[in-house]
Amino acid sequence: MAAHSPMAKMLGPVAVVGLAILGCSLLLVQVGASPTPPYDIVPLCVFGDSYSDFGNNIYLDTTVRADSPPYGIDSPTARPTGRFTNYRNMADYLSVALRLPETPSPYLSPQLNGERLLYCANFASPATGILNDTGVQEGNRITMPEQLASFRQYRSRLAGVVGGNAQAERLMNQAVFFVTVGTWDFLSNYYRLPFSARASQYPVLTDFIAYLISVYTNYLRSFYQLGARRVMIVGVGPLGCVPATLAARSRNGDCDPELQRAALLFNAEVVKMAQYLNTEFGGVFFLAADTNRCIYDLYTNAAAYGFTETRVACCGQGRYNGEGQCTPASNLCPNRDVYVNWDPIHLTDRANGIIVQLVLAGPPEVISPMNLNAMLAMDNGA
Ligand SMILES: *[C@@H]1O[C@H](CO)[C@@H](O)[C@H](O)[C@H]1NC(C)=O
Repeated sequence: MAAHSPMAKMLGPVAVVGLAILGCSLLLVQVGASPTPPYDIVPLCVFGDSYSDFGNNIYLDTTVRADSPPYGIDSPTARPTGRFTNYRNMADYLSVALRLPETPSPYLSPQLNGERLLYCANFASPATGILNDTGVQEGNRITMPEQLASFRQYRSRLAGVVGGNAQAERLMNQAVFFVTVGTWDFLSNYYRLPFSARASQYPVLTDFIAYLISVYTNYLRSFYQLGARRVMIVGVGPLGCVPATLAARSRNGDCDPELQRAALLFNAEVVKMAQYLNTEFGGVFFLAADTNRCIYDLYTNAAAYGFTETRVACCGQGRYNGEGQCTPASNLCPNRDVYVNWDPIHLTDRANGIIVQLVLAGPPEVISPMNLNAMLAMDNGA
């Protein structure tokens, strides 16, 4: 396998091909190994949108939910799990990399209790954006302020399990906070067709992005105040290239330049925001991942990663399988491993695994100011 891309080269053919296997074997090793609570584990607290939800939206009255086939088709049960992919999303891969005995529970799941609280929880909700009004047309979702409120409640419950606030604080200092948010602010809000109130309010794209970043910064400050010291901020993917955008805006399959510009500018500001917060709090507590760059690399160097289809979604209908939602009636590709895109906006299991490898071990162009492995190796004072 020829790895022409520097990023693909960095992972190496074995890593790229072996990701799925690696994920499973790590999981197997860990099953049965009971954790020594509370300090031997790195909990994983997940926030944001459909790129990392483990199924919170199943508990809500909303049409944005991944609880019907073929979602989850490649999972061990072959059944939907609430995740917007064919098996694992980025947060699943991260949970395996952190060697948690099981993935953190969705916050709304009745299963979230007892020792499970030690792994933290997944607060994310599909259709959620940085802005409160983002996703309002899609139905119910848990907004960012609500996710923060849920986290505060979670923290008091955790304190009850680990023997007090100080212990809960230390555990949260060790935890990885994984935040995927921003995509829906563009796709479902600013670039909403045929009309967008936010685009009328902010005719200049950079003004809208500055507003998003100012709101986002305040959420991240709240995380810090609640004990977070390892915060992984995930930027947006190639908004102009996802099948939904190609279906709505592209004549010939080329990425839409305006939405690509938004992804580029937003992610650059996310990187600056992490730097700014690190300076403000005096340490390396925030990392920023330029997922646009990673995923774009999957498109442009598809063969090096073992993908053959980068434009058409595996599950969907219409142009590029990018129209509407992925449903039991949609077209479904036979081999999910060679597709980058699972549905009109979400990635396949295999693509998610590669992105998480890049976040863990990638170069500063992808993940800055250092990668997650380097941050985990640092003594963060916890
Ligand atoms: C978002 O909603 C919360 C209440 O849930 C409110 O306190 C906050 O001010 C709102 N944020 C913005 C930026 O409008």
